[in-house]
Amino acid sequence: MISSQEIAFEVKGLTKIFRTRGALGQTETVHALDGVSFAVLTGKTLGVVGESGSGKSTIGRCVLGLIEPTAGKIALDGQDLNHKRKSLARQFRRQVQIVFQNPQRSFNPLFSIRNSVGEALNLRPDWSREQRQKRVEEVLDAVKIGDEMRDRKPEELSGGQLQRVAVARAIAPEPKLIFLDEPTSSLDLSVRGEILRLLRELQKSLGITYVFVSHDLEVVRVVADNIVVMYHGQIVEQAPARDLFDNPKHPYTQALLAASELSEDQFRWSQRTELNLATDNGCRMRDRCPFAEEKCSESQAFNTVSRFHQVRCWKVTEYKQPIGSNKINKTITDE
Ligand SMILES: Nc1ncnc2c1ncn2[C@@H]1O[C@H](COP(=O)(O)OP(=O)(O)O)[C@@H](O)[C@H]1O
Ligand SMILES: [Mg+2]
Repeated sequence: MISSQEIAFEVKGLTKIFRTRGALGQTETVHALDGVSFAVLTGKTLGVVGESGSGKSTIGRCVLGLIEPTAGKIALDGQDLNHKRKSLARQFRRQVQIVFQNPQRSFNPLFSIRNSVGEALNLRPDWSREQRQKRVEEVLDAVKIGDEMRDRKPEELSGGQLQRVAVARAIAPEPKLIFLDEPTSSLDLSVRGEILRLLRELQKSLGITYVFVSHDLEVVRVVADNIVVMYHGQIVEQAPARDLFDNPKHPYTQALLAASELSEDQFRWSQRTELNLATDNGCRMRDRCPFAEEKCSESQAFNTVSRFHQVRCWKVTEYKQPIGSNKINKTITDE
Protein backbone atom coordinates (compact mmCIF):
# COMPACT_ATOMS: atom_id res chain seq x y z
CA MET A 1 0.00 0.00 0.00
CA ILE A 2 1.07 3.55 -0.66
CA SER A 3 0.97 5.51 2.55
CA SER A 4 -1.12 8.62 2.34
CA GLN A 5 1.87 10.72 3.40
CA GLU A 6 3.61 9.98 0.15
CA ILE A 7 0.69 11.25 -1.89
CA ALA A 8 1.25 14.88 -2.81
CA PHE A 9 -1.75 15.33 -5.02
CA GLU A 10 -4.92 13.45 -5.67
CA VAL A 11 -8.09 13.78 -7.70
CA LYS A 12 -11.08 11.57 -7.06
CA GLY A 13 -14.03 11.12 -9.38
CA LEU A 14 -13.29 14.39 -11.15
CA THR A 15 -16.11 15.12 -13.57
CA LYS A 16 -16.75 18.09 -15.81
CA ILE A 17 -19.76 18.47 -18.03
CA PHE A 18 -19.85 21.48 -20.34
CA ARG A 19 -23.18 22.64 -21.61
CA THR A 20 -23.05 24.72 -24.74
CA ARG A 21 -25.46 26.04 -27.31
CA GLY A 22 -25.24 24.43 -30.71
CA ALA A 23 -25.60 26.26 -34.00
CA LEU A 24 -29.37 25.71 -33.98
CA GLY A 25 -29.80 26.89 -30.42
CA GLN A 26 -30.04 23.37 -29.00
CA THR A 27 -28.20 22.51 -25.79
CA GLU A 28 -25.20 20.27 -26.21
CA THR A 29 -23.45 18.48 -23.40
CA VAL A 30 -19.80 17.55 -23.47
CA HIS A 31 -18.56 15.10 -20.86
CA ALA A 32 -15.03 16.46 -20.84
CA LEU A 33 -14.13 14.51 -17.69
CA ASP A 34 -15.95 11.51 -16.38
CA GLY A 35 -14.91 10.18 -12.98
CA VAL A 36 -11.17 10.71 -13.27
CA SER A 37 -9.17 9.51 -10.25
CA PHE A 38 -5.42 9.41 -9.75
CA ALA A 39 -2.75 10.12 -7.18
CA VAL A 40 0.77 11.50 -7.56
CA LEU A 41 3.54 10.76 -5.10
CA THR A 42 5.65 13.56 -3.68
CA GLY A 43 8.54 14.52 -5.93
CA LYS A 44 7.35 12.25 -8.73
CA THR A 45 5.86 12.83 -12.15
CA LEU A 46 2.51 11.61 -13.34
CA GLY A 47 2.21 11.61 -17.11
CA VAL A 48 -1.28 12.19 -18.51
CA VAL A 49 -1.55 11.04 -22.10
CA GLY A 50 -4.36 11.15 -24.61
CA GLU A 51 -5.11 12.72 -27.92
CA SER A 52 -6.51 16.18 -28.41
CA GLY A 53 -9.93 16.58 -26.79
CA SER A 54 -9.52 13.75 -24.27
CA GLY A 55 -9.87 16.14 -21.32
CA LYS A 56 -6.27 16.73 -20.24
CA SER A 57 -6.38 20.52 -20.06
CA THR A 58 -9.76 20.40 -18.37
CA ILE A 59 -8.09 18.65 -15.44
CA GLY A 60 -5.62 21.53 -15.16
CA ARG A 61 -8.34 24.14 -15.38
CA CYS A 62 -10.30 22.45 -12.58
CA VAL A 63 -7.18 22.16 -10.44
CA LEU A 64 -6.36 25.83 -10.85
CA GLY A 65 -9.92 26.87 -10.13
CA LEU A 66 -10.39 28.44 -13.56
CA ILE A 67 -13.49 26.31 -13.97
CA GLU A 68 -15.58 24.48 -11.43
CA PRO A 69 -15.78 20.71 -11.60
CA THR A 70 -19.26 19.23 -11.93
CA ALA A 71 -18.28 16.61 -9.34
CA GLY A 72 -15.25 15.14 -7.67
CA LYS A 73 -12.51 16.04 -5.24
CA ILE A 74 -9.09 17.57 -5.59
CA ALA A 75 -6.63 17.34 -2.71
CA LEU A 76 -3.12 18.58 -2.08
CA ASP A 77 -1.20 16.98 0.77
CA GLY A 78 -4.42 15.41 1.95
CA GLN A 79 -6.27 18.72 2.13
CA ASP A 80 -9.35 19.11 -0.03
CA LEU A 81 -9.37 22.02 -2.38
CA ASN A 82 -12.45 24.13 -2.26
CA HIS A 83 -12.12 27.10 -4.58
CA LYS A 84 -15.17 28.64 -3.01
CA ARG A 85 -13.36 29.11 0.27
CA LYS A 86 -11.27 32.12 -0.63
CA SER A 87 -8.49 31.84 1.95
CA LEU A 88 -7.91 28.20 1.14
CA ALA A 89 -8.06 28.89 -2.57
CA ARG A 90 -5.36 31.54 -2.27
CA GLN A 91 -3.10 29.18 -0.42
CA PHE A 92 -3.71 26.49 -2.98
CA ARG A 93 -3.07 28.91 -5.82
CA ARG A 94 0.49 29.38 -4.65
CA GLN A 95 1.09 25.71 -4.15
CA VAL A 96 -0.07 24.69 -7.59
CA GLN A 97 1.45 26.35 -10.62
CA ILE A 98 0.97 25.76 -14.31
CA VAL A 99 3.09 25.89 -17.43
CA PHE A 100 1.12 26.18 -20.65
CA GLN A 101 1.86 24.88 -24.09
CA ASN A 102 2.41 28.21 -25.76
CA PRO A 103 4.81 30.50 -23.89
CA GLN A 104 4.20 33.41 -26.26
CA ARG A 105 0.58 33.48 -25.24
CA SER A 106 1.14 33.05 -21.53
CA PHE A 107 3.14 36.24 -20.96
CA ASN A 108 1.99 39.82 -20.84
CA PRO A 109 3.76 41.36 -23.86
CA LEU A 110 4.24 44.66 -22.01
CA PHE A 111 6.08 43.16 -19.05
CA SER A 112 9.81 42.55 -18.98
CA ILE A 113 10.98 39.04 -18.14
CA ARG A 114 11.97 40.20 -14.63
CA ASN A 115 8.58 41.75 -14.03
CA SER A 116 6.69 38.76 -15.37
CA VAL A 117 8.45 36.49 -12.91
CA GLY A 118 8.13 39.11 -10.18
CA GLU A 119 4.39 39.29 -10.72
CA ALA A 120 4.04 35.60 -9.85
CA LEU A 121 5.40 36.52 -6.43
CA ASN A 122 2.26 38.44 -5.62
CA LEU A 123 1.30 35.01 -4.37
CA ARG A 124 3.92 35.48 -1.64
CA PRO A 125 2.76 38.45 0.40
CA ASP A 126 4.65 36.85 3.27
CA TRP A 127 7.96 37.69 1.55
CA SER A 128 9.57 41.14 1.72
CA ARG A 129 10.27 43.12 -1.43
CA GLU A 130 13.96 42.25 -1.16
CA GLN A 131 13.21 38.57 -0.77
CA ARG A 132 11.04 38.65 -3.84
CA GLN A 133 13.62 40.47 -5.93
CA LYS A 134 16.25 37.99 -4.85
CA ARG A 135 13.94 35.11 -5.70
CA VAL A 136 13.38 36.42 -9.24
CA GLU A 137 17.12 36.43 -9.93
CA GLU A 138 17.53 33.05 -8.28
CA VAL A 139 14.91 31.27 -10.39
CA LEU A 140 16.12 32.91 -13.61
CA ASP A 141 19.59 31.64 -12.73
CA ALA A 142 18.12 28.19 -12.17
CA VAL A 143 16.66 28.07 -15.68
CA LYS A 144 19.80 29.61 -17.19
CA ILE A 145 18.29 32.84 -18.46
CA GLY A 146 21.22 35.27 -18.58
CA ASP A 147 21.21 38.71 -17.02
CA GLU A 148 21.18 40.37 -20.45
CA MET A 149 17.79 38.82 -21.22
CA ARG A 150 16.01 39.77 -18.05
CA ASP A 151 14.92 43.28 -19.00
CA ARG A 152 13.72 42.24 -22.43
CA LYS A 153 10.13 41.78 -23.48
CA PRO A 154 8.74 38.28 -24.17
CA GLU A 155 8.73 38.82 -27.95
CA GLU A 156 12.51 39.28 -27.89
CA LEU A 157 13.07 35.76 -26.60
CA SER A 158 12.86 32.49 -28.51
CA GLY A 159 10.13 29.96 -27.74
CA GLY A 160 12.57 27.76 -25.86
CA GLN A 161 13.95 30.64 -23.79
CA LEU A 162 10.49 31.86 -23.00
CA GLN A 163 9.40 28.41 -21.90
CA ARG A 164 12.36 28.37 -19.52
CA VAL A 165 11.11 31.67 -18.12
CA ALA A 166 7.65 30.10 -17.76
CA VAL A 167 9.26 27.33 -15.73
CA ALA A 168 11.10 29.93 -13.61
CA ARG A 169 7.83 31.74 -13.03
CA ALA A 170 6.16 28.49 -12.02
CA ILE A 171 8.80 27.51 -9.46
CA ALA A 172 9.22 31.07 -8.09
CA PRO A 173 6.55 30.97 -5.35
CA GLU A 174 7.82 27.54 -4.20
CA PRO A 175 4.83 25.44 -5.24
CA LYS A 176 4.37 21.81 -4.31
CA LEU A 177 2.91 20.85 -7.67
CA ILE A 178 3.38 22.05 -11.21
CA PHE A 179 0.82 21.17 -13.85
CA LEU A 180 2.72 21.06 -17.14
CA ASP A 181 0.23 21.24 -20.01
CA GLU A 182 2.05 20.12 -23.17
CA PRO A 183 5.09 22.22 -22.18
CA THR A 184 7.19 21.10 -25.12
CA SER A 185 4.56 20.68 -27.84
CA SER A 186 5.00 24.13 -29.38
CA LEU A 187 8.79 23.95 -29.33
CA ASP A 188 11.27 22.88 -31.96
CA LEU A 189 12.50 19.36 -31.54
CA SER A 190 15.98 20.66 -30.78
CA VAL A 191 14.91 22.53 -27.64
CA ARG A 192 12.42 19.96 -26.37
CA GLY A 193 15.12 17.81 -24.82
CA GLU A 194 16.62 20.84 -23.15
CA ILE A 195 13.33 21.74 -21.43
CA LEU A 196 12.70 18.14 -20.39
CA ARG A 197 16.19 17.91 -18.89
CA LEU A 198 15.69 21.19 -17.07
CA LEU A 199 12.39 20.02 -15.61
CA ARG A 200 13.99 16.82 -14.41
CA GLU A 201 16.92 18.66 -12.82
CA LEU A 202 14.61 21.05 -11.02
CA GLN A 203 12.48 18.22 -9.76
CA LYS A 204 15.53 16.49 -8.36
CA SER A 205 16.84 19.55 -6.59
CA LEU A 206 13.53 20.99 -5.41
CA GLY A 207 11.44 17.88 -4.85
CA ILE A 208 8.49 19.30 -6.76
CA THR A 209 5.67 17.04 -7.91
CA TYR A 210 4.66 17.21 -11.57
CA VAL A 211 1.56 16.38 -13.54
CA PHE A 212 2.89 16.29 -17.08
CA VAL A 213 0.28 16.37 -19.83
CA SER A 214 1.05 15.40 -23.39
CA HIS A 215 -0.57 13.89 -26.45
CA ASP A 216 2.82 12.33 -27.15
CA LEU A 217 3.67 9.12 -25.33
CA GLU A 218 7.31 9.40 -26.30
CA VAL A 219 7.66 12.70 -24.45
CA VAL A 220 5.93 11.31 -21.40
CA ARG A 221 8.17 8.28 -21.50
CA VAL A 222 11.17 10.55 -20.83
CA VAL A 223 9.72 12.22 -17.75
CA ALA A 224 6.97 10.18 -16.12
CA ASP A 225 7.19 7.76 -13.21
CA ASN A 226 3.56 6.76 -13.61
CA ILE A 227 1.21 7.26 -16.53
CA VAL A 228 -2.52 7.55 -16.99
CA VAL A 229 -3.93 7.16 -20.48
CA MET A 230 -7.09 9.13 -21.20
CA TYR A 231 -9.72 8.58 -23.80
CA HIS A 232 -12.78 10.78 -24.13
CA GLY A 233 -12.69 12.04 -20.56
CA GLN A 234 -11.96 8.71 -18.91
CA ILE A 235 -8.82 6.99 -17.78
CA VAL A 236 -8.52 3.75 -19.73
CA GLU A 237 -5.22 2.54 -18.34
CA GLN A 238 -2.85 3.51 -15.56
CA ALA A 239 0.48 2.00 -14.69
CA PRO A 240 4.07 2.69 -13.72
CA ALA A 241 5.73 4.08 -16.88
CA ARG A 242 7.84 1.00 -17.42
CA ASP A 243 4.86 -1.37 -17.25
CA LEU A 244 2.85 0.75 -19.59
CA PHE A 245 5.50 0.66 -22.28
CA ASP A 246 6.55 -2.95 -21.75
CA ASN A 247 3.10 -4.36 -21.34
CA PRO A 248 0.38 -2.05 -22.65
CA LYS A 249 -2.99 -3.69 -22.20
CA HIS A 250 -5.75 -1.42 -23.37
CA PRO A 251 -6.32 -1.40 -27.14
CA TYR A 252 -6.17 2.38 -27.05
CA THR A 253 -2.79 2.45 -25.30
CA GLN A 254 -1.51 -0.06 -27.81
CA ALA A 255 -2.83 2.10 -30.60
CA LEU A 256 -1.16 5.19 -29.17
CA LEU A 257 2.12 3.34 -28.93
CA ALA A 258 1.79 2.08 -32.46
CA ALA A 259 0.91 5.55 -33.69
CA SER A 260 3.58 7.45 -31.86
CA GLU A 261 5.43 8.04 -35.10
CA LEU A 262 2.40 9.76 -36.60
CA SER A 263 1.65 13.40 -35.98
CA GLU A 264 -1.37 14.36 -33.92
CA ASP A 265 -3.18 15.43 -37.07
CA GLN A 266 -2.71 12.06 -38.66
CA PHE A 267 -3.94 10.30 -35.58
CA ARG A 268 -7.55 11.27 -35.18
CA TRP A 269 -9.53 8.36 -34.06
CA SER A 270 -11.71 10.26 -31.70
CA GLN A 271 -12.95 12.74 -34.25
CA ARG A 272 -14.13 10.08 -36.64
CA THR A 273 -17.29 8.97 -34.98
CA GLU A 274 -19.64 10.88 -32.74
CA LEU A 275 -20.66 8.84 -29.75
CA ASN A 276 -23.52 9.62 -27.53
CA LEU A 277 -21.34 9.92 -24.48
CA ALA A 278 -23.96 11.48 -22.26
CA THR A 279 -26.09 8.41 -21.87
CA ASP A 280 -23.76 5.60 -22.67
CA ASN A 281 -21.85 3.78 -19.94
CA GLY A 282 -20.13 1.31 -22.22
CA CYS A 283 -16.55 1.44 -23.44
CA ARG A 284 -16.13 4.69 -25.30
CA MET A 285 -13.82 3.16 -27.79
CA ARG A 286 -15.91 0.24 -28.88
CA ASP A 287 -17.12 1.77 -32.15
CA ARG A 288 -13.60 1.77 -33.44
CA CYS A 289 -11.98 -1.00 -31.47
CA PRO A 290 -11.07 -3.98 -33.65
CA PHE A 291 -11.73 -6.30 -30.68
CA ALA A 292 -15.12 -4.99 -29.63
CA GLU A 293 -17.79 -7.46 -28.59
CA GLU A 294 -21.25 -7.13 -27.22
CA LYS A 295 -20.04 -7.02 -23.65
CA CYS A 296 -18.17 -3.79 -24.44
CA SER A 297 -21.43 -1.87 -24.37
CA GLU A 298 -21.72 -2.65 -20.65
CA SER A 299 -20.14 -0.41 -18.07
CA GLN A 300 -16.38 -0.99 -17.88
CA ALA A 301 -14.72 -1.33 -14.50
CA PHE A 302 -10.98 -1.24 -13.91
CA ASN A 303 -9.28 -4.61 -14.03
CA THR A 304 -6.03 -5.13 -12.18
CA VAL A 305 -3.13 -6.44 -14.24
CA SER A 306 -0.51 -6.14 -11.51
CA ARG A 307 -0.11 -4.15 -8.31
CA PHE A 308 -0.30 -0.65 -9.78
CA HIS A 309 -1.43 -1.47 -13.28
CA GLN A 310 -5.13 -1.11 -14.08
CA VAL A 311 -7.07 -1.31 -17.29
CA ARG A 312 -10.63 -0.33 -18.11
CA CYS A 313 -11.31 -3.25 -20.41
CA TRP A 314 -12.98 -6.51 -19.49
CA LYS A 315 -10.92 -8.35 -22.06
CA VAL A 316 -7.68 -8.17 -20.13
CA THR A 317 -9.06 -10.85 -17.86
CA GLU A 318 -9.68 -13.06 -20.88
CA TYR A 319 -6.39 -12.56 -22.69
CA LYS A 320 -3.01 -13.43 -21.27
CA GLN A 321 -1.13 -11.63 -24.03
CA PRO A 322 -1.54 -7.96 -24.93
CA ILE A 323 -4.54 -7.70 -27.19
CA GLY A 324 -3.21 -8.10 -30.76
CA SER A 325 -1.29 -4.89 -31.31
CA ASN A 326 -0.44 -5.81 -34.88
CA LYS A 327 -4.04 -5.55 -35.88
CA ILE A 328 -4.34 -2.10 -34.32
CA ASN A 329 -1.16 -1.00 -35.95
CA LYS A 330 -2.68 -1.86 -39.26
CA THR A 331 -5.95 -0.09 -38.53
CA ILE A 332 -4.15 3.14 -37.87
CA THR A 333 -1.59 3.14 -40.62
CA ASP A 334 -4.40 2.36 -43.10
CA GLU A 335 -6.03 5.73 -42.32
N1 LIG B 1 -15.48 25.82 -22.35
C1 LIG B 1 -15.85 24.70 -22.98
N2 LIG B 1 -17.11 24.55 -23.46
C2 LIG B 1 -17.49 23.43 -24.10
N3 LIG B 1 -16.69 22.38 -24.31
C3 LIG B 1 -15.41 22.46 -23.89
C4 LIG B 1 -14.93 23.63 -23.20
N4 LIG B 1 -13.61 23.42 -22.88
C5 LIG B 1 -13.30 22.19 -23.34
N5 LIG B 1 -14.37 21.61 -23.95
C6 LIG B 1 -14.44 20.26 -24.55
O1 LIG B 1 -13.99 19.34 -23.58
C7 LIG B 1 -13.26 18.29 -24.19
C8 LIG B 1 -11.90 18.18 -23.53
O2 LIG B 1 -11.12 19.32 -23.87
P1 LIG B 1 -9.64 19.53 -23.33
O3 LIG B 1 -9.59 19.29 -21.87
O4 LIG B 1 -9.17 20.85 -23.82
O5 LIG B 1 -8.84 18.35 -24.06
P2 LIG B 1 -7.27 18.15 -24.29
O6 LIG B 1 -6.54 19.11 -23.41
O7 LIG B 1 -7.03 16.72 -23.93
O8 LIG B 1 -7.04 18.39 -25.73
C9 LIG B 1 -13.22 18.62 -25.67
O9 LIG B 1 -14.25 17.90 -26.29
C10 LIG B 1 -13.47 20.09 -25.71
O10 LIG B 1 -14.07 20.45 -26.91
MG1 LIG C 1 -5.08 20.54 -23.99
